[in-house]
Amino acid sequence: MRRLLPDPVDDVDVVAAYAYPAQRPWLRGNMIASADGAATLDGHAGGLGNPTDQRILGLLRALSDVVIAGAGTVVTEGYGPARAREEYQTVRAEAGQPPAPVMAVVSNQLRLDFSARYFAEAKQRPIVVTCQAAPQDLLRAAREVADVVVAGARVVDPAAMVSALAERGFTRLLCEGGPSFLGSTVEAGVLDELCLTISPMLVGGPARRVLDGPVISPPAPMRLTQLLIDDDDLLYARYEVRR
Ligand SMILES: NC(=O)c1ccc[n+]([C@@H]2O[C@H](COP(=O)([O-])OP(=O)(O)OC[C@H]3O[C@@H](n4cnc5c(N)ncnc54)[C@H](OP(=O)(O)O)[C@@H]3O)[C@@H](O)[C@H]2O)c1
Repeated sequence: MRRLLPDPVDDVDVVAAYAYPAQRPWLRGNMIASADGAATLDGHAGGLGNPTDQRILGLLRALSDVVIAGAGTVVTEGYGPARAREEYQTVRAEAGQPPAPVMAVVSNQLRLDFSARYFAEAKQRPIVVTCQAAPQDLLRAAREVADVVVAGARVVDPAAMVSALAERGFTRLLCEGGPSFLGSTVEAGVLDELCLTISPMLVGGPARRVLDGPVISPPAPMRLTQLLIDDDDLLYARYEVRR
């Protein structure tokens, strides 16, 4: 893995390259897109990546306190529990983090499969982020298998979610999408950073983009803070959202 920006380095230390900044809470998004902006290939993100992209995804999880994903993504991408590989255990211990990050699923309606792997096989009790309008019976079912964070009245308010997670000690936040939920974090003005993998392929067609939902007006400007490249020409951009 080579670094192109800010300064060229041939064999980059990826753990240092993705260290969370001191400013907390910090909400980092991580997404992959084709060169023509598609966030899915045959309905999934996986086909756009390669083993190095998977390694970076694993690293970003390993550096986080909590991995946040929308209800659509956990189903489509077949999520299991959040884990951190053995090679990152020292980094986590030094950062005062438990062996694995916590998985947080975001849903308004709570029509979730409460027997899904990310609940049933979790080493640490997962989190369900929902809103006050969530059906009471499903709220009770969620509480059986997860800690429930109620953030927002009719739908989940991403700003309230970030505050509630920070109050619980989760300050290194990683959002893995999908496009709908990530869009709402930008609209709410709480996304601090976007880690975007750009895959060297053209997909065309009606594929989703990495952000969906209402138009962000005015557009959220970003600053490119880092650009890495792997041996297959996948680019790994770190953008900081300007406030
Ligand atoms: N390229 C990539 O890196 C990448 C990453 C992730 C996903 N994806 C792809 O994206 C697709 C899934 O994304 P998606 O956009 O359909 O779903 P999503 O963003 O993962 O989840 C949307 C769901 O989140 C819940 N939610 C709660 N509060 C919300 C809010 N404020 N704003 C938006 N959603 C809120 C709702 O769940 P309820 O309906 O339960 O209330 C909503 O239906 C899949 O095809 C997946 O493969 C691509």
